Amino acid sequence: MIVFGIETSCDETAAAVVVGGRDVLSNIVYSQVARHQPYGGVVPEVASRCHLEVLPPICEQALTEGGLDWSRIETVAVTRGPGLASSLLVGVTAAKALSLRLGVPLLTVSHLDAHIYALFLGEDAPDAAAVCPLVALLVSGGHTRLIRMDAPGRMVVIGGTLDDAAGEALDKGAALLGLGYPGGPEIEKAARGGDPEYVRFPRAYPEGRTGAGGRDGGPALGFSFSGVKTALRYYLADHPGVLGQHLADVAASYQAAVFDVLAERLKTAVVAESARYAACVGGVIRNETLRAMLRGAAHEAGAQLLLADPAYCTDNAAMVAGLAGSGWPCVRAARLDEGIVPTGKGL
Ligand code: KG4
Ligand code: ZN
Repeated sequence: MIVFGIETSCDETAAAVVVGGRDVLSNIVYSQVARHQPYGGVVPEVASRCHLEVLPPICEQALTEGGLDWSRIETVAVTRGPGLASSLLVGVTAAKALSLRLGVPLLTVSHLDAHIYALFLGEDAPDAAAVCPLVALLVSGGHTRLIRMDAPGRMVVIGGTLDDAAGEALDKGAALLGLGYPGGPEIEKAARGGDPEYVRFPRAYPEGRTGAGGRDGGPALGFSFSGVKTALRYYLADHPGVLGQHLADVAASYQAAVFDVLAERLKTAVVAESARYAACVGGVIRNETLRAMLRGAAHEAGAQLLLADPAYCTDNAAMVAGLAGSGWPCVRAARLDEGIVPTGKGL
């Protein structure tokens, strides 16, 4: 099945063509970073207006780079949520129009499920059935979750965050450090050569399985990242001028506090679920330091590690089109009167 995918849940405007759930013919991502940079973060109104402006040419480009014309598209797929309501609306409306115009079905996917599906894109990707049950750690700008996948597309959330997501903690931390937006890659750059033990920022291991429907009596798999950000704020107030000499050390220490918790919780979840595979997906998984730490954690837990290809970690439409073409049970056939789902609940 040849699927045309659209993704507009936040500040990337993306379109892609994927065949048979795996073969990526094109994957075009327009990053709106420059438009939001003056404000130090994503402005929803700016994002939706930008989607409206750039989505048509991005779609044309995805089609052309895929070497196809519209008559070859068999299905249109779009992210229905979670994400910014006004941004989702642009993608969903465009996808509905495209499916009507082409006379092909419209499928909708959860953005979070699509992040997990990123593991299975491309020729070298593993077979999903062969690596289940697996435990996935999803770390994006808006979500930090541990998910157990029992069979392809059958996912249960087993851990989540009480407050900020890990990506959000990096974005907010970067602002405190005087770095640009988005903060994750800026902190990664600033931390190069820095000493991750220069400052011991707090690591939070909250009780329970926050936001989760995991098995009763299991270990704590929740996250909390708002405290580490506050700790950075107080540290900087108590050490004026420290960034002049020690920006790399402070950035490396802050990053390490966030990443330690992710690696530790992944290890706990993998052991608790007796999973043979540990998978890591989402924008923050682009970080090379984190990738190395996760390799160590999976090894200690006795699991094989699957890391999403960096190109498919941050938001893209290949993961949307791929998932839609996979036949996984979490993919939905859309009704034309169906709306968007701006929250992560029930996905
Ligand atoms: O998955 P994603 O593209 O969008 C959401 O669904 O939220 O993730 C965006 C997040 C941002 O917080 C960004 O700072 C972070 O991923 N990120 C990184 C890196 N690249 C993106 N964090 C750490 N290191 C990176 N290299
Ligand atoms: Zn995302």
